[in-house]
Amino acid sequence: MVTAESKVSLTGIKPTGEPHLGNYIGAIKPALELADGAESIYFIADYHALTSVRDPHLLARWTRSVAATWLAAGLDPERTTFYRQSDVPEIFELHWLLSCFAAKGLMNRAHAYKAARDRNREAGVEDLDKGVNMGLYNYPVLMSADILTMGTDLVPVGKDQLQHVEYAADIAGAFNALYGDSFKLKLPKAVVPKEDSGRTLPGTDGRKMSKSYGNTIPLFAPEAELRKLVRRIPTDSTPVEEPKDPAASHVFQILQHFASSEETAAVRARLEAGGMGWGDLKNTLFTTLDDHLRPMRERYDALMAPGSELDELLALGASKARRRARPVLQQARKAIGIG
Ligand code: ADP
Ligand code: TRP
Repeated sequence: MVTAESKVSLTGIKPTGEPHLGNYIGAIKPALELADGAESIYFIADYHALTSVRDPHLLARWTRSVAATWLAAGLDPERTTFYRQSDVPEIFELHWLLSCFAAKGLMNRAHAYKAARDRNREAGVEDLDKGVNMGLYNYPVLMSADILTMGTDLVPVGKDQLQHVEYAADIAGAFNALYGDSFKLKLPKAVVPKEDSGRTLPGTDGRKMSKSYGNTIPLFAPEAELRKLVRRIPTDSTPVEEPKDPAASHVFQILQHFASSEETAAVRARLEAGGMGWGDLKNTLFTTLDDHLRPMRERYDALMAPGSELDELLALGASKARRRARPVLQQARKAIGIG
């Protein structure tokens, strides 16, 4: 139940590709489960994606696809606030304001920026800032604006984003130290899942499923593609009749996230006993995935169709978000003397 004392939790999702099974199990499902008990805000960070996605058709497509995915996966737009970052101009105005309080040294130490410089150093490039745009450099300030405009208490993020949330608190602290007598920005806290939560899915080459490895199984791949991709997951050459170790099988690792605990136990027993071949296991995975995902896929396809209610839902979300953001921005403007 959301009450007046409820904490506000906010999550941003960068539209950098079609969501895959790993994103669903590792990020989408747990975030939606968290929606109970806190006032939840979710948004598509499309302007953040612009630092890397430079194809207008892809940016538009992935933004829609990610939004449709979250809705199809069960995000309730009535109970939560769900919008596109680019639809909320208050965020960008606060971004400038915050950039005037963000220490440049802090940005110099940001992981993504440092990694870009390291890559240049390793490649022997003389100018370590080569290929670094100001969007990448300012990325943590925009993220701070996302968080602080909405009066966020909690930010559920992966470990890689922890530094950014700490930056947001740091920048808010710098603002509050100067203007805190008239207005205080709320200090956010990151909520990071425990290491090795057992939710990391392997991809079609056995490495961690990731867009950057090109080994993903898209969450809403059409049936035929889903079947083909499942077949591609590597297995060893243990003969059908021999016992197999389920824990060492990538196919089984994926299966257990989608099958019921009874089904998982039954398949585990069959593998351990011998007599179940990898082909059989892959068919079981395909059927389980297809049964599990079909209703969501239908909703996803409907939302992705031109003229669907997706645009309406996002417009509604944007007006809710702006209603929230406006007073924060107004008070911050007043505090600095631009009222
Ligand atoms: P990708 O590696 O495909 O680019 P992102 O870095 O955009 O994925 O991750 C988005 C979210 O999905 C993060 O919270 C991340 O932890 C989660 N995630 C990504 N890949 C996996 C995976 N293979 N298993 C579990 N969770 C994953
Ligand atoms: N930087 C986050 C990522 O790469 C996405 C993001 C943008 C975000 N703004 C945010 C996450 C605000 C949490 C809060 O995944």
